[in-house]
Amino acid sequence: MDNGLPRHVAIIMDGNGRWARRRQLPRIAGHRAGVENVRAIVERCAELGIDTLTLFAFSSENWRRPPAEVRLLMDLFVHALEQEVQRLHENGIRLRVIGERSAFPRKLQRAIDASEAMTADNTRLTLVIAANYGGRWDITEAARRLAEQVQQGLLEPAAITPELLEAQMCLHDTPEPDLFIRSGGEQRISNYLLWQLAYTELHFTDCLWPDFDREQFDLALKSFARRQRRFGMTGEQVEQTGELPAQRLGTS
Ligand code: IPE
Ligand code: IPE
Ligand code: MG
Repeated sequence: MDNGLPRHVAIIMDGNGRWARRRQLPRIAGHRAGVENVRAIVERCAELGIDTLTLFAFSSENWRRPPAEVRLLMDLFVHALEQEVQRLHENGIRLRVIGERSAFPRKLQRAIDASEAMTADNTRLTLVIAANYGGRWDITEAARRLAEQVQQGLLEPAAITPELLEAQMCLHDTPEPDLFIRSGGEQRISNYLLWQLAYTELHFTDCLWPDFDREQFDLALKSFARRQRRFGMTGEQVEQTGELPAQRLGTS
């Protein structure tokens, strides 16, 4: 982060449906345009040397949408993986998917497994897709795993710390997001990375996701670079030491 760039950017790609409606197109046309745009933003991140880009593709609440839209989204996901994975691989990008994937159609699960396997050793940029992901699910799963350890006599309840809980969560091996972006005008987190966003800088824009181009992305980076992150300290402390405490809980 010394160069003012975030190491990890987490995005809620919102506004596909409204983008389509404004053009009197079906919602799926907005989702298609949204996928196209993912390519542009992934390329920009790789170009800039950002380590990790996490994209919210489908929330655990998105199953509430009309079944036809859900089905089309699943098809689009399979299609996008099949189309794009080779290009990602050639560009040194590692793909990871977080979320409860067992709920997905078999075909999609297979496409995810294959894409992750193909790109596993790439190191230029890690692209994380949050699919059937929910922040509450993530925290609950972690709690369940610790409870199992307690039940097996491997862990004392008194020994449970935020670090131990975090170690059981998705992205425990990734620096926390430095910058969060939500397109589409809503100013909410919608059950995204609830735990991981504790000290993330938030950027909201009215721009709809299919229109969120590299210029918009660069504006978000510019806004990020101007902010002083204090992690609970005073501004003077940060200015004097020029150092920030480690973001991870308890590692300072
Ligand atoms: C985000 O766009 C994509 C997904 C949630 C899959 P929306 O589909 O939520 O777009 P709006 O909010 O209806 O415009
Ligand atoms: C959040 O967008 C989820 C994704 C972008 C995948 P939603 O459109 O589902 O969020 P809400 O329902 O407006 O909060
Ligand atoms: Mg939406």
